[in-house]
Amino acid sequence: MIEQQDKKHWYDGRTYNYLIDPSTETTREIISSLIENDSRVIDIGCGTGSLALYLSKKCKYIVGVELSKKMVEYANSMKQEKDISNVHFLHGTAENISGLTNERFDYAIYSLSLHEMKSETRAKTLDEIKKITNNIIIYDYDEKNNTSFQSILNSIIEFVAGKDHYKNYKSFLKENGVFGLLEKHEYKVQKIIFDKGSYVAVKARWK
Ligand SMILES: C[S@@+](CC[C@H](N)C(=O)[O-])C[C@H]1O[C@@H](n2cnc3c(N)ncnc32)[C@H](O)[C@@H]1O
Repeated sequence: MIEQQDKKHWYDGRTYNYLIDPSTETTREIISSLIENDSRVIDIGCGTGSLALYLSKKCKYIVGVELSKKMVEYANSMKQEKDISNVHFLHGTAENISGLTNERFDYAIYSLSLHEMKSETRAKTLDEIKKITNNIIIYDYDEKNNTSFQSILNSIIEFVAGKDHYKNYKSFLKENGVFGLLEKHEYKVQKIIFDKGSYVAVKARWK
């Protein structure tokens, strides 16, 4: 079954932009450093669009895909405010990217979005995305030591985000996170950047 067509969180939109986006500045910098100038990029689970808008200076064209309508509305309002024309936000699910676009991209990015998806959704999107790109960049949790202070804090944050959210985060860790998923879906790791003790950015190719 394809995941519901509008994902609603109490913090979607402005609240996420105030609470979370300021703490992900290095995430955007790291991801940007892994991408060549003038690339065409698709950002899956783009949230408020902060990464897509940040990359707009460097990239030729960016599509942001997001399951929460409220996030898409907020991202579009930020795009308008900043007067950016090479970024487009689409409401839809990561499971069905080829139903949203048939364009080819240089990179697909999953920034902090895979851990939030159901296990089946993660599996579907990591195969589905191969139809439109050969390269992916994933930035997400990397928790080898789950008794560390940061790991306990992450667990609390995911718990506060909601029951399903927490369940998906736990299943992501059980699937061995980013590296487990890349191996299962036959991606070849090209570059790894560890961040803040419990996050990792990985650039990978599937052929
Ligand atoms: C933790 S937020 C990360 C947002 C942004 N990428 C960032 O780096 O700040 C995860 C986002 O993924 C979105 N998401 C979750 N499941 C999705 C799906 N199946 N398809 C598209 N977006 C999804 C959520 O609605 C949420 O906005």
